[in-house]
Amino acid sequence: MSESSSNDYLLYAPHPPASTLALWLEESNRITRQILSNISIADQVVPQINILNPPLWELGHLTWFHEFWVHRDGQESKPSSMQNADYLFNSSEMAHQDRWSTPMPSLDNLLEYNHSVIESTQELLRAPIDNKAAYFIQLAILHQDMHNEAFAYMWQTMGRSIPFTPFTEESKLETNTQTWIHFPKSTIQAGSEQGSGFIFDNQKWAYSIDLPAFDIASSPVTNGDYLSFLESPSNLAQSTPVAPPSHWKKDGAIWLERIFNQWLPLNCAAAVRHISYLDAQRFCEHHQVRLPNEHELGLLMSQKQGAWQSSNLWEWTSSTFAPFPGFSSDPYIDYSQPWFDGSHQVLKGGSSFTPDRLRRVAFRNFYQGQRSDHFCGFRTCLL
Ligand SMILES: [Fe+2]
Repeated sequence: MSESSSNDYLLYAPHPPASTLALWLEESNRITRQILSNISIADQVVPQINILNPPLWELGHLTWFHEFWVHRDGQESKPSSMQNADYLFNSSEMAHQDRWSTPMPSLDNLLEYNHSVIESTQELLRAPIDNKAAYFIQLAILHQDMHNEAFAYMWQTMGRSIPFTPFTEESKLETNTQTWIHFPKSTIQAGSEQGSGFIFDNQKWAYSIDLPAFDIASSPVTNGDYLSFLESPSNLAQSTPVAPPSHWKKDGAIWLERIFNQWLPLNCAAAVRHISYLDAQRFCEHHQVRLPNEHELGLLMSQKQGAWQSSNLWEWTSSTFAPFPGFSSDPYIDYSQPWFDGSHQVLKGGSSFTPDRLRRVAFRNFYQGQRSDHFCGFRTCLL
């Protein structure tokens, strides 16, 4: 375990009972195994581009991560049950491009490694557990949930069939009901307090912010809104007009949208998805509006359902991912710290491939602003 990390994680109480963690783990690992068990030899191969990972590497990595934190105390001196696992599967050490050229264990071996590691944790969870064990087990489950969602958006990128059943239905927006919701000037609490249960280090710690009054859209930007923008004379007159998203195509006069391996007529009333932060900003400039910051969007999302419409997507914010006052790295020091580099934007919300346990208003997701491959959308605020 790194000496530069803090022991704050011991304060992330209360934790769910062991029986709940056992169910979460069973669900998350069942999804991973369902994706990998059904994968053909051909589908084990993916193009070598920076938004993809080889599926077998990803299976090895998420199992290694679980074993490393839950069963090895985060120490390489405690052996893994898989030969060479630290070399092969530590994402902090195995360079991205090397994940294609380094020989991997077979799928059967990786599934066996996964089975033995997860069964050891299920054994632990048959009795009450302390805060430390609960922290690392939650960390490993939520990490696996994020990788499961990453499998889903990788499959979307490659036009493969849907890899697992979504947790929630796609959101059905009520049409023509978009309004501006006014929030008066207020003082809010950002970040998370001790005693909030499991948090990630980038949520430390709660602090007060004076938030000026703002007006935010009750609904996300729709495909129809985005199409009007793309086809507007002012966009087309730009030296580099914003191009249609890569999962759209025009067939005669009809726009189609690819959802996994199916081309469907573009639903103009649905929330627009797979738009980069950079293109969302171009949309905002065109309409003379702006993206909400992470505190504004968090405040909206903490209002009761019905007052606003969810996109069921991760929504971009104007907030560059940065530490809150009081930040210190938790034992997995590469979760946040390396990404406070000015090139990542905070997103809030969650997609239909995000389980409820990760859909927390205080949770801060983050991606580089040029990316659009994950399940992302946006809404706007008045200037
Ligand atoms: Fe990971």
